[in-house]
Amino acid sequence: MRKNIIAGNWKMNKTASQASEFLHELSSRMGSKDEVVIFPPYLSVAAAVEALKGTKVRVGVQNMHFEDSGAFTGEVSADMILESGCEYVLIGHSERRKYFAETDETVNLKTKKALQKGLIPMVCVGEDLDEREKDLTFDVIGRQLEIGLSGIAPASVVIAYEPVWAIGTGRTATDEQAQEVCAFIRKTIAKMGFAADEISILYGGSVKGSNISSLMAMPDIDGALVGGAALTEDFINIINY
Ligand code: 13P
Repeated sequence: MRKNIIAGNWKMNKTASQASEFLHELSSRMGSKDEVVIFPPYLSVAAAVEALKGTKVRVGVQNMHFEDSGAFTGEVSADMILESGCEYVLIGHSERRKYFAETDETVNLKTKKALQKGLIPMVCVGEDLDEREKDLTFDVIGRQLEIGLSGIAPASVVIAYEPVWAIGTGRTATDEQAQEVCAFIRKTIAKMGFAADEISILYGGSVKGSNISSLMAMPDIDGALVGGAALTEDFINIINY
């Protein structure tokens, strides 16, 4: 079901005790008309779930393996994630693609597994600066969607458009640039057989309290995936755009 979602990807930040302290301080102010999701590191998930008990804020993880179990040292399965109290899983974040060899093929396997297990996959796509400058944005995003979401329609997924050049750089895409790509994503997944009008598409990349409102006013942007600002009190301003 298409709804507005404000998500905070903590990346490799906040220990369990820091997560607990931060969320105990802010959770009472995290009430929102929109769905709010926090993605802490694995080892801080339990503390986050505990601190958010009784609130409507959801918790997710930043990655998962596509196999059910087995000899995959250092990996975490969908069942483990579900049992920990998470409802969402980020798949294919650009940092996973860049530093940990995530490919469109593994994104596809992980997304299928998440759906099979009842987790909500938030699938990330985005072009880097070189690709944008070479005018390859739509080619890159089209390929990421066609392979990453192959064989999945019409299941319900969440998609996050995060241009790599806007992540952690302070350089937000303009509202029009973000809207243009989110509209392209909706058109592409419609062609793939998804009920595209029912799919939430988020923008991510240097989102702050000061730029969230105009992004949210765009017709094809249904939310934000926030990195740096989700670690600070500014997240409350973002939620209350
Ligand atoms: P920043 O908000 O720090 O640019 O990070 C965006 C991001 O990668 C969220 O997943």
